[in-house]
Amino acid sequence: MQNVLITGGAGFIGSNFINYFLKAETRARVINLDALTYSGNLENLAHLSGRDDYIFIEGNICDFELVLSLFKRYDVDTVVHFAAETHVDRSIVDPRTFIDTNVMGTYSLLEAARSVWLKEMNKNEKYKRFHHISTDEVFGSLNPNDPPFTEKTPYRPNSPYAASKAASDHLVLAYSHTYGLPVTITNCSNNYGPYQYPEKLIPLMIINALNGKKLPIYGDGQNIRDWLYVEDHCEAICRVLENGKEGETYIVGGNTQPTNLEVVETICDLIDQHKPKSKFVPHQSLIEFVPDRPGHDFRYAMDISKITRELGWQPNHSFDLGLEKTVTWYLSNPEWINSIQKKKNFQDWIGVNYSTRGDTK
Ligand code: NAD
Ligand code: DAU
Repeated sequence: MQNVLITGGAGFIGSNFINYFLKAETRARVINLDALTYSGNLENLAHLSGRDDYIFIEGNICDFELVLSLFKRYDVDTVVHFAAETHVDRSIVDPRTFIDTNVMGTYSLLEAARSVWLKEMNKNEKYKRFHHISTDEVFGSLNPNDPPFTEKTPYRPNSPYAASKAASDHLVLAYSHTYGLPVTITNCSNNYGPYQYPEKLIPLMIINALNGKKLPIYGDGQNIRDWLYVEDHCEAICRVLENGKEGETYIVGGNTQPTNLEVVETICDLIDQHKPKSKFVPHQSLIEFVPDRPGHDFRYAMDISKITRELGWQPNHSFDLGLEKTVTWYLSNPEWINSIQKKKNFQDWIGVNYSTRGDTK
């Protein structure tokens, strides 16, 4: 039996991962440690309650004594570390929690793994792995004709969020280099799909379009992201857990780089098709350009040749297929959307981010 500590498993990618992993792995037990911040949502995992291969612990990864006790109580042999503050715009408004969770929280997990695992690893050869989920944002921004990011691209983080993730990556690799901790890292591009908190571009545009609200595009909408359907990310993580080499990092991406404007226009067209009688057709008429994100990275692009060559992974979803599935999921889950939309912390964030845009100096 594998005992897998998953941090941040009530969030978007973490909850998709737990669902994916427990379907694929019948000989594993998941211990999900999540602080249930604004983006953590137990509804994402409600169908797992009562199963004996799934345990939920509400708690903060910065609480070292708690983390240490979980390693010991559950004989944890694998960590998949998702927990983080994740929204770039929030990191611009208030970076503090990003440093606490992303840097100090990662440090706390690494220290627990070091203190429990390194002693055990001297005694036996039992499999251990600390897998850290990271982002392409640590590499900074590309110009239009620059080659895509590779595992060798130097780190140049631009936002407080990206800097905090870069710091956590460096800590993880330092624990491998210095103490021999068995680590791997994936640096992934923008994910989208079911259960994504609607502060991020794709779910925000879907729910605003359905409600006939404006679709706020930062700057001129020509910024480019690489988009990956979340299930493909989950599969990539499983491949790295199974066969990834200790101490290595792997770039993960979707091989698709539309401009933000193209993304929003495609969402509008899909909603036109699903809701042809809506009074907001054509939904593209809701698009408005708003002041840019300070320090907005222009372009990300991913060279996935290492993970494809070494682990046989590549994305299964084209952007068209993934977006169609995503729009369909949000249309089919109005209760999930409503429960978030009516929360004060969601409304407060929309007020902070959109009523004061351009006013962050
Ligand atoms: P999310 O914001 O949806 O979820 C984060 C989860 O972490 C939430 O459940 C939250 O409650 C929990 N959490 C936050 N602080 C915590 C703390 N101190 N202790 C315990 N739990 C805490 O984020 P996501 O989009 O699912 O991202 C997950 C991971 O993937 C992050 O590490 C992020 O940097 C990385 N990542 C995200 C993307 C993306 O496009 N969303 C892309 C690449 C990498
Ligand atoms: O690249 C990976 C990263 O992708 C992850 O590490 C982050 O956790 C995740 O939040 C995401 O970061 P982005 O900043 O790229 O995602 P976001 O959805 O916030 O924005 C995507 C693009 O859309 C970006 O260029 C900013 C733009 N945007 C975003 C919002 C919320 C808008 O134009 N309007 C908006 O209202």
